[in-house]
Amino acid sequence: MKRFIVLTGATGGIGQEILKVLLKNDKYNIIVSYRKESQLNMFLEMDDERIIPINADLSKSDDIDKLSKKIKSHVSNDGIYALINCAGLADATPLEYSSEKKARELMEVNYFAPMKLTKNLLSDLKVYSDANAVKSRVVNVASWAGVVAQPFIPFYNASKFAIMGFSESIYYDLGLDNIHVVSIIPGVTKTALLSKTTGSAFDSIKGSSKYDKYNKNFKMFSTDPSEGPFAKFLSSSKKAGENIVSILEKDNPKSRYAIASDAKFMDLIVSRLFPVKMRLGMMKRMYSLEK
Ligand SMILES: NC(=O)c1ccc[n+]([C@@H]2O[C@H](COP(=O)([O-])OP(=O)(O)OC[C@H]3O[C@@H](n4cnc5c(N)ncnc54)[C@H](OP(=O)(O)O)[C@@H]3O)[C@@H](O)[C@H]2O)c1
Repeated sequence: MKRFIVLTGATGGIGQEILKVLLKNDKYNIIVSYRKESQLNMFLEMDDERIIPINADLSKSDDIDKLSKKIKSHVSNDGIYALINCAGLADATPLEYSSEKKARELMEVNYFAPMKLTKNLLSDLKVYSDANAVKSRVVNVASWAGVVAQPFIPFYNASKFAIMGFSESIYYDLGLDNIHVVSIIPGVTKTALLSKTTGSAFDSIKGSSKYDKYNKNFKMFSTDPSEGPFAKFLSSSKKAGENIVSILEKDNPKSRYAIASDAKFMDLIVSRLFPVKMRLGMMKRMYSLEK
């Protein structure tokens, strides 16, 4: 019986590192989604028949349904051992300069895509659990932005709070069908996501009358964190990928893991132990928002 894993976001960053670690295990056949022709070539060049690339733009509901159908025909009666929802995108913009289109795109990719894929593939996850002693699992890559909000990333926070809530809720009902559900909270990790966020922050206020005002608050975004003074404290995508696979492979994983020191600080201390006033004060100081 083959062990199928469905992985989104494997074209870059943390997802690509997850793929590399998974490929070290001969048991796995990994179905990956991609949205550009060049990315298909990247997977083909890996020259490994255990990688099964399928085209899908995860911001499009129809694409997710088509992707799900193709996945089902690949896995057939073997079912699915694991679904790893890793694809995601970020944005930093003060609300007054933001667009609803961007808000919806983030919600589609970071929340609706994992929700739809999980729902569409439930029967295949159940097939695997019914036939095996080690049960199937859904692994949702969230963020500490899903437990503590920061200034200027409202859409990212909203989408990550949504996936955290969704993930914890389905932990109960999928558990009744012997499907594990795991939420992963990575720390700030050196990937392209950081420079894209830095870029969107400054692009959003360029030429505006409030440039000087926000410029001061944006000093947190002024350097891509992977190049700034805190760079040495950030996780590497390789480490994040290794951590996520080691959690994925536990026989009985817990419902939630914070996998880096900043993620543990935010999830275990700031969100649970800090009074709200203290948390807000900390963020205001970090972003020079004190009046
Ligand atoms: N980096 C961090 O500091 C950090 C911290 C906490 C949580 N996370 C989370 O970790 C996950 C991976 O992020 P990363 O840092 O590895 O980012 P990344 O390097 O930018 O990779 C993001 C992945 O998501 C895919 N994706 C984005 N929009 C898509 C769409 N519409 N359709 C299909 N695929 C799409 C990208 O595909 P393309 O190559 O086609 O764009 C890429 O494979 C995300 O969920 C992110 O929120 C990251």
